[in-house]
Amino acid sequence: MKRICVMGTGYVGLVSGACLADFGNAVVCVDIDAPRIERLRGGEVPIYEPGLEELMGRNRDRGRLSFSTDIAFAIKSCEIVFICVGTPSLPTGEVDMSYVHAAARSIGQYMEDYKIVVNKSTVPVGTGDEVGAIIAEVRPDADIDVVSNPEFLREG
Ligand SMILES: NC(=O)c1ccc[n+]([C@@H]2O[C@H](COP(=O)([O-])OP(=O)(O)OC[C@H]3O[C@@H](n4cnc5c(N)ncnc54)[C@H](O)[C@@H]3O)[C@@H](O)[C@H]2O)c1
Repeated sequence: MKRICVMGTGYVGLVSGACLADFGNAVVCVDIDAPRIERLRGGEVPIYEPGLEELMGRNRDRGRLSFSTDIAFAIKSCEIVFICVGTPSLPTGEVDMSYVHAAARSIGQYMEDYKIVVNKSTVPVGTGDEVGAIIAEVRPDADIDVVSNPEFLREG
């Protein structure tokens, strides 16, 4: 059993979080979108994925899956952080990396001990080093490993 924080409760974060909880891990899914977290806490499943509602319900009932806007606490108390935030396209066609960068800054800001940082967002090559550098900038003594585990599935 690992304590896992999933940053971003979109398609990727929710499905990953629910599946990781179903494997027996203790998962906290966090988001900066407070109304979304409120709905999730109320048992609402904002997206449709076959089997997801049942998976989320079962793991919430067993105390393995929770939802929070308290990103500081979730990062402090986990062993592994999954970055599952959005990476939309900019009008120039480039990737908007601002959400990934903000997530990395939060990790640096709140971490107190060793973390494995797993990047699940779709990002350009080199982002692992970039995430590591941002965390180290915020917390020069940061003890981390950054892992790339991109999502390859599609909605539905
Ligand atoms: N949706 C898919 O089918 C799919 C498939 C493969 C890869 N991906 C990739 O996975 C990533 C996530 O996609 P998605 O569809 O789940 O995105 P999404 O836009 O549905 O969800 C992203 C969530 O991250 C939250 N967020 C943003 N910044 C945050 C922060 N600093 N801390 C916490 N939460 C934050 C947003 O509020 C939002 O709820 C993207 O890079 C996307 O390209 C998506």
